[in-house]
Amino acid sequence: MRLVICDTVDYVAEWSAKYVMKRIKDFEPNKDKYFVIGLPTGGTPLGMYKKLIEFYQAGKISFKYVKTFNMDEYVDLSRDHHESYHYYMYNNFFKYIDIDPQNVHILDGNAKDLTKECENFERKIEEAGGIELFIGGIGPDGHIAFNEPGSSLASRTRVKTLAQDTLEANARFFGNDINKVPKQALTVGVGTVMDANEVMILITGSHKAFALYKAIEEGVNHMWTVSAFQQHPRTIIICDEDATLELRVKTVKYFKSLWDIHCKLIEDISQLKI
Ligand code: F6R
Repeated sequence: MRLVICDTVDYVAEWSAKYVMKRIKDFEPNKDKYFVIGLPTGGTPLGMYKKLIEFYQAGKISFKYVKTFNMDEYVDLSRDHHESYHYYMYNNFFKYIDIDPQNVHILDGNAKDLTKECENFERKIEEAGGIELFIGGIGPDGHIAFNEPGSSLASRTRVKTLAQDTLEANARFFGNDINKVPKQALTVGVGTVMDANEVMILITGSHKAFALYKAIEEGVNHMWTVSAFQQHPRTIIICDEDATLELRVKTVKYFKSLWDIHCKLIEDISQLKI
């Protein structure tokens, strides 16, 4: 596992966007070979999306031969609702880049048969040749996508009923009215993300420091679903200083000592503020 510790949240955005850009460029996608990427929503990746848009507008990258699969979506929330993940992805990323809408895949939480929708999603990932790079974010309880504590680490895309804690935490996005918060969501499973060739997880803020500690310094445990990625051969976690507050000093020192090696993973390091 790699842990890239950046000084600030802004730098996490810049570093991760550069990494994504480099991965896509090195892959040399074309009409017969698409780069398939898994994407998260939430506050954490917003800066990365902004940077990727900047790179696109500067002519540094194209998304013409990129296929995307989003991690999750609420059930029974219209696509144009400002809290739907369709709305989020379109308004924070897709409308600014050259991706073909046909290559965008977001679970349909309004599908008549939700189980079938989840099965189809897994099938579409398989038909696309699997996910090359799955990007994720985590909650303070270590959840990835809607795989809350106790979710099976072998889980696949499915319907999840949200825990009371999640409903309460999400009420702020729905006018502080818990009754307006969708009670269910469709989500990829931990196993779905594990199948990707590479997993990149963004973690920022002191409120996620304990989750980062559980993710990397303790054992694999379904109560901290993010810990599953210790067993993935290619996991890269990009975090800020605040997220490292619960780690041992020697862990932080070790990963910081690899900074120069990590920087070789991204293009054009001369432009970075190190
Ligand atoms: C995103 C997702 C979640 C979020 C997590 C963190 O599609 O499924 O795992 O990444 O809840 O959210 P933020 O970034 O808002 O703290």
